[in-house]
Amino acid sequence: MAKFFIKINHLSGSDIIILGIESSCDDTSAAILKNGTILSNIVAGQKVHEKFGGVVPELASRAHQQNIIPVVDAAIKEAGIQKKDISGVAFTRGPGLLGSLIVGTSFAKSFALALDIPLIDVNHMQAHILAHFIKNAEERYPAFPFICMTVSGGHTQIVLVKDYFTMEILGQTIDDAAGEAFDKAAKILGLPYPGGPLIDKYAKLGDPKKFAFPISNLPGYNFSFSGLKTSILYFLKKEMQKDATFIDKNLNDICASYQDTIIRSLFKKLLKATREFGVKDVAIAGGVSANSQLRSELERIGKEENWRTFIPKFEFCTDNAAMIAIGGYYKFLNGEFVGQDVVADARLKF
Ligand code: KG4
Ligand code: ZN
Repeated sequence: MAKFFIKINHLSGSDIIILGIESSCDDTSAAILKNGTILSNIVAGQKVHEKFGGVVPELASRAHQQNIIPVVDAAIKEAGIQKKDISGVAFTRGPGLLGSLIVGTSFAKSFALALDIPLIDVNHMQAHILAHFIKNAEERYPAFPFICMTVSGGHTQIVLVKDYFTMEILGQTIDDAAGEAFDKAAKILGLPYPGGPLIDKYAKLGDPKKFAFPISNLPGYNFSFSGLKTSILYFLKKEMQKDATFIDKNLNDICASYQDTIIRSLFKKLLKATREFGVKDVAIAGGVSANSQLRSELERIGKEENWRTFIPKFEFCTDNAAMIAIGGYYKFLNGEFVGQDVVADARLKF
C-alpha cells in the first residue's frame, strides 16, 4: 500500500474539515469534524441482527451498502458544509468484519478520488482511544503517556498511549471480549442483541453479591472471559432444572452479579498496569465504556488512586465516525495519507 507523507504547511491558517466514515461492524456512521470540533456525527444502527443474538456479517455488509450514502449525505447536511469544503476523507481500515469494512473503504476511496482530496486510513481500536481528543468545552484531554482500557464487542485491551499513534498493548483478552461476555450471557438469558445495555439496565436493580461467578486469574495484564460465559450457562441450566422460572424471578440479581464479576476482573488488571507504569491519567473507551458500573467504578477508584480519569461521552463510546474523523485529523496534520491501492484489513494491528 502506498503511504504518502506530504508537507501541508501551505494549509496553515485554513480550516481542516475531515469526513470520517465508520463501517467496521454493524453501525454505519459518518461525521464531519472541523479543526478537531465535531459538526455532525450520524450513526445508523442495524436492527436486523437483534433476533439472531449477534451480528450476521453478510446482513451487516448489505445494510452498510444501503445506509452509507444517506448517512454521509445527512452528516454533510447537518454540518452545514458542502462537499467542496472537505479537506480529507478518513475511514476505518480495520480491524472488523471484512465485508463491512470493504463498504466504508470503497466508499471513502471513491469519494476522495472524485473530490481529489487526501485519503486517510484509521485503525478502529486507536480511534476509540483518540475519541478522547475530540474538542470539548472544558478543553480537558489526557496527557501522554496515559493508560486506556478499551472494552468493546470485539476487543478488550489495556493500552499504554505514548502519543496519538504510538500505542503499546500491555494486555488483552485471550478469548472473548468483555462486550462479547455481556452479549453472550444476554443471549443465554433470552435478551436481544446487543445485550450489554440491557444487562446494565437490569443490574442497576439487582444485588451484585447474590450469585458468585469465577474471575479469571491470568498472569500479566491479559484477560479471559470464556470461562465466565460457560459458568453462567451451566449455573442457569442447573437452576432452571429445579425451577423453570428461575431467570424471570432473579433476572436483576443475575445481571448485577455477572456484571460485577466482569467489572472487577477489568479493574484488577487496570490497577496493576497503572501502578506498575506509574501512570495517573486513566481513560476508558469502546462500547462497554458506556456501562454505568464501569463508569462509576472508574470515578470511585480514580479518586482513591489519585488518577485523572477520562470517560467518553455516551455518543463516542459505541462505534461512531467522530472517532475516525479525529484519528484522520491528526494524520492529516502529519500529512500521512494512503493511495487508492489501500485495502480493508479485518485483522489490522497497531
Ligand atoms: O465499540 P462497540 O460499539 O463495537 C465494537 O467495536 O465491538 O461495542 C459494542 C459492545 C457490545 O458488545 C455491547 O453489548 C457493548 O458494547 N455495550 C455495553 C453497553 N453499551 C454497549 N456493554 C455493557 N454495558 C453497556 N451499557
Ligand atoms: Zn468499536
